[in-house]
Amino acid sequence: MSTSLKPGAKLQVSAEALEQKGTMTAHTREFDLVLFGATGFTGALVAEELLARGGTVRWALAGRDRAKLEGVKARLTALSKTAGDLQILVADSHDAVALDALAKRTRVVCTTVGPYHQHGLELVRACAENGTHYCDITGETPFMRRTIDAHHRTAQSTGARIVHACGFDSIPSDLGCLILDEAMRLRSGAPCDEATLYVTKMRGGASGGTLASMLGLLDAAKREPELRKVLLDPYALNPDGERAGPDGPDAFGLSLEKEGFVGPFVMAGVNTRVVRRTNALLGYRYGRDFRYREVSRYRRSVMGALRCGGTSLGLGALLGAAAIPALRGVLARALPKPGEGPSKEQRERGQFRIALVGTNRVNGVPNRVTARVEGNRDPGYGFTAIMLSEAALCLACDTLTSEGGVLTPASAMGMTLVHRLRGAGMVLAAD
Ligand SMILES: NC(=O)c1ccc[n+]([C@@H]2O[C@H](COP(=O)([O-])OP(=O)(O)OC[C@H]3O[C@@H](n4cnc5c(N)ncnc54)[C@H](OP(=O)(O)O)[C@@H]3O)[C@@H](O)[C@H]2O)c1
Repeated sequence: MSTSLKPGAKLQVSAEALEQKGTMTAHTREFDLVLFGATGFTGALVAEELLARGGTVRWALAGRDRAKLEGVKARLTALSKTAGDLQILVADSHDAVALDALAKRTRVVCTTVGPYHQHGLELVRACAENGTHYCDITGETPFMRRTIDAHHRTAQSTGARIVHACGFDSIPSDLGCLILDEAMRLRSGAPCDEATLYVTKMRGGASGGTLASMLGLLDAAKREPELRKVLLDPYALNPDGERAGPDGPDAFGLSLEKEGFVGPFVMAGVNTRVVRRTNALLGYRYGRDFRYREVSRYRRSVMGALRCGGTSLGLGALLGAAAIPALRGVLARALPKPGEGPSKEQRERGQFRIALVGTNRVNGVPNRVTARVEGNRDPGYGFTAIMLSEAALCLACDTLTSEGGVLTPASAMGMTLVHRLRGAGMVLAAD
């Protein structure tokens, strides 16, 4: 696995972390798993999932406000008496001492405290230095880039697996490409030359926390040219010295292809970077010339064309309104606030359908494979809570072959996580 420590960067590793390296499976720590951010909209859903699927895992609730955490614990205890034994840990996301203490007590930290560029850096540092595995649901590429630059090398030395993007961004893309690659190798003995992810259905809402993260990123991008560069770089998350390849900017136009009308997909700018980092971290398993894109797809019909145009215009209008101060206030009043999000009914009515198509040519013979990634709940919350809790349990309970570092879901947990998510009701299938 490649490293990306900047010349002169400090490598800080606690003696305890070095002792822990390789012995974490011996359950030397008080907790297997701590959920940080349990009082938030998504954190509360993840807490319910952990309660339902955690089994004998020793876990605890963490956040900055003890009284609010007691409220979460009481709600969980009403669902299952076993939650009455959950311990509560208090730490602010900017308190380095408290975060070090928290990271030393557990083998895994799972965090929903966002926006991550505001609240996430100290926790990643604490986990990397203390040899504690970590997972989150960030979709903020500049934040991931910063943790790679600052903590990848440290995490390699302590054995901490730091895994970003364990929600709807970017597990369906990252694990979808992994199973597509397996299918193509079985079919042709070689990886795909190129792959496209088509989002064919996505029904769900947004939370205040997600909107705050997106708007915060837009604001920061207006101020900081360096950050804009990261957002626009198709290889923004690749190791240093490997930030180039055949892919260009994400598709923004509308077109009619064999598969139907296609338009932009709002999360492509995050997911494609994660998939390309996975490829690099897995020693270019998908090939150095692998080309990858993500788009939304609609039927080849008048209605399909109208939907494609309408959705793309809507996305453009939302981003445009967010950039204009006068409209920004109107948006802020109309959209959910931090702590708010889609109702239980909306989450249960939600769903997502994704199709992946991979192609290659071996000895002049063209090959084509397809895969599906699907779930019958709202992708951003209902299914994100399942994906994050299964990723956290995977880091805590399963035997994994990956080494430490700032990783991606597929490079850290690979097929082990695929099997877990299939067991949790997610479709991850190569056709
Ligand atoms: N990738 C995906 O698919 C996906 C899906 C959903 C959400 N997300 C991301 O997840 C994050 C959370 O979203 P959300 O809607 O759950 O947000 P939210 O409801 O606003 O929750 C934020 C959480 O952060 C905590 N927090 C805020 N400041 C803190 C501090 N200084 N120290 C410790 N904790 C602090 C809050 O604690 P208090 O309760 O004490 O205020 C709360 O628990 C966002 O970044 C969002 O973009 C990603």
